[in-house]
Amino acid sequence: MTKILMVCLGNICRSPLAEGILQQQADEAGLDLEVDSAGTSGWHNGEHPDPRSTENAWEHDIDISKQRSRQFTVADFDAFDRIYAMDHSNYNNILSMARNEADQEKVDLILNADQPGSNRAVPDPYYGGSSGFENVYQMLHHACAAVVDDLSAES
Ligand code: 4NP
Repeated sequence: MTKILMVCLGNICRSPLAEGILQQQADEAGLDLEVDSAGTSGWHNGEHPDPRSTENAWEHDIDISKQRSRQFTVADFDAFDRIYAMDHSNYNNILSMARNEADQEKVDLILNADQPGSNRAVPDPYYGGSSGFENVYQMLHHACAAVVDDLSAES
């Protein structure tokens, strides 16, 4: 079973949504995937996703309400096959914890999944309104579809 970890800063806005979207798409494709998410900070440890993320997910028939925020740890390099960062700051923070080349090779920006080499970031919607969350959803929806296509081709 392939194991994928989505990572943002707080693990309450972007990566919970990314986890829910990828899990839904994997289920629909009949792909055996384990998906989790984490934050590079521990600021929201133990908290449920931001209500704006939960509401946006609901609008797309995805339930992320039971997720809990947790901080990324070095053990995640062993537990997961791929680690997707939402933005460059998350990406650099994860890489700074890598112990070797094998760890480094697991990490990429999530939008490179559907836009290879673009190195684009999923913008942080925390300080904005609900339209920012739908924008994040649309970006992640396309990127996760590319991840599922890629893994389906592999299996
Ligand atoms: P996330 O968004 O990284 O997508 O979960 C944020 C959540 C919380 C904060 C910043 C970004 N914060 O400053 O607490």
